[in-house]
Amino acid sequence: MSILSGMETLIITAVILLLTASWRLYQKRKYYRGVTSKLPTVYGIPFIGIVYKMLDVNKIFHNFHIKHVLTSSEFFNKAEEVYKHFQNGVFNGLIVAPAKKWKADRKIISTFLAHNNNVAWIPAFNSISLKNKLERLVGQGEQDIYTIIKSTYAFKLFGVAFLSRTPHYNRVRKYLKDLVQSLTKKHLAQQLESEAMNNVVEDKQAMVDITVKAMRQGLFSEKQVVVEGFTMLAASYETSAAVLYTCMLMLAMHPEIQERVFQEIRSVFPIEVISVEYEDLKKLPYLDMFFSEALRLAPPISFIARKTAQDSEICPGVILPKGAQIAISIYELHRRKEIWGPDASRFNPDNFLPENIVKRHPYSYMPFSKGARNCLGFRYAEISLRIAVIHAVRSLKFSTTFKYEDIVHVPHISLRYKVQPPLSIEVRAN
Ligand code: HEM
Repeated sequence: MSILSGMETLIITAVILLLTASWRLYQKRKYYRGVTSKLPTVYGIPFIGIVYKMLDVNKIFHNFHIKHVLTSSEFFNKAEEVYKHFQNGVFNGLIVAPAKKWKADRKIISTFLAHNNNVAWIPAFNSISLKNKLERLVGQGEQDIYTIIKSTYAFKLFGVAFLSRTPHYNRVRKYLKDLVQSLTKKHLAQQLESEAMNNVVEDKQAMVDITVKAMRQGLFSEKQVVVEGFTMLAASYETSAAVLYTCMLMLAMHPEIQERVFQEIRSVFPIEVISVEYEDLKKLPYLDMFFSEALRLAPPISFIARKTAQDSEICPGVILPKGAQIAISIYELHRRKEIWGPDASRFNPDNFLPENIVKRHPYSYMPFSKGARNCLGFRYAEISLRIAVIHAVRSLKFSTTFKYEDIVHVPHISLRYKVQPPLSIEVRAN
C-alpha cells in the first residue's frame, strides 16, 4: 500500500474543499432560486449578475411593496453593497448604521432636528448670502451657477465624487474630517450654556452643533460627535446644493412658471425680502408645488437600498430570503407613466395640486424616502431651501438657452447633471 506523498495529500485536500464549497454554493443558489421564483425576477449571468438590468429590476416593485420595505422592521438595515463606500471611518454614522445602533442614535439626533430647532435656524438661513453672490453675475451672460451655489451653500470641496477613492478624495476626506474635528473642539471650548450656540450664522457649523450638543449631554462620545457631524454635513450639503441648483434651472427653463412663483412671492413681500419668517412660508402654496415638482424630477438621492434581516414575505406567497439586498429607484418611481401620466417627464407643478395628490398612492413620491428611516433633515431642508429660493427669486430673474429636453441626469449616489446648464441672471425692477 502506497503512502500518499505530501503533494498528493495537498491536491486531494484542495479538491475536497473545492467540491464542498461548490456544493454549498449550489445549495445556496438553489435556495435563492426557490424563494424568488414567485417574483417576476430577472436572472443574472455568471460573475456579472443582474447589475446590467438594475433599472428593470426596480419595475417589479409596486407602491405597496415599497411601503412594506420602508416601513417594516425586517428591512431597517441598509444594503451593504450600495452603502459600503460610506464605511470609511467618517461617513459611517446614522445613514449606514446597522438597525440596532441606528434606532438609538436616530432618537438622539432627531431631538435636535425637531420642529422648534428647525425654526430657530431661520435667522441663519436668511443670512446665507447666495443672492448677493448671484447678483455679481448679473449682465455677464450665461454662467456656471452650480459652482456658486456649492461654494456658498456647501463646501467647495463637497462636489467631489466621494465614492471614488482617488488621492484627491482622500485629501478631501482628511480636510473635512479635520474641519469637523476642529469645529467640535471649538464648540467644546465654549461655555456649556452658551447662547451663541443658537446664534451661529456660519452655515457649515450648524450640523456640528447638533452632535456637540448631544455630547454635552453625555449622549455621544467625542468620536461619535465627529462621525455624526460629518454624516450630517454629507447628508445635507450635497443634497441641498443640488436641489437649489435644480430650482434655479427649472425656473430659468420655464419662464411662465418662474413668473408665477415670482408673483406669489411678491404678493407676500411687496417691497423686498428682508427676512423670511416661518409664517410666511405657509402663504406660498405655488412655491410648495414648484419645489415638490423639482424634487420629483431631480431627486438628489436617486435610489435607496435595504437588506432583509430574515426571510421576509414581501406580499402573500413571495418571500425575500435573509440577506437579500433591495434597491428602490426614487428617480424611476417619480417618472412612472402609470403614476404620473403620459407626460410624466414634463415639469409641471400642477402635479402637486391637492386634488392631484389625493389621487396617488402616498408611496408614489418620496424624495426624502419614507418610513422609519426616512430623511431626518427633511423639514430643515424644506425650510432652508425655500428661504434661499424666496430671496433669490424676489430680486433676480433667471434664464438659459439650454433646453429642458436636453438634460441628461447621471446616476450617482447623488444625482448629477451630465452637463450643468449655465444660467443668465438679471435684476428685477420690482
Ligand atoms: C433636499 C435635501 C435632501 C434630500 C432630498 C434628502 C434625502 C434623503 C434620503 C432619500 C434619505 C434616505 C437615504 C436612504 O434611505 O438611504 C436621507 C437620509 C438622511 N438625511 Fe436627508 N436629504 C436632504 C437633506 C438633508 C438634510 C438638510 C439633513 C440634515 C440636516 C439630512 C439628514 C439626513 C439623515 C441624518 C439621514 C439618515 C436617516 C436615517 O438613516 O435614519 N438630509 N435623506
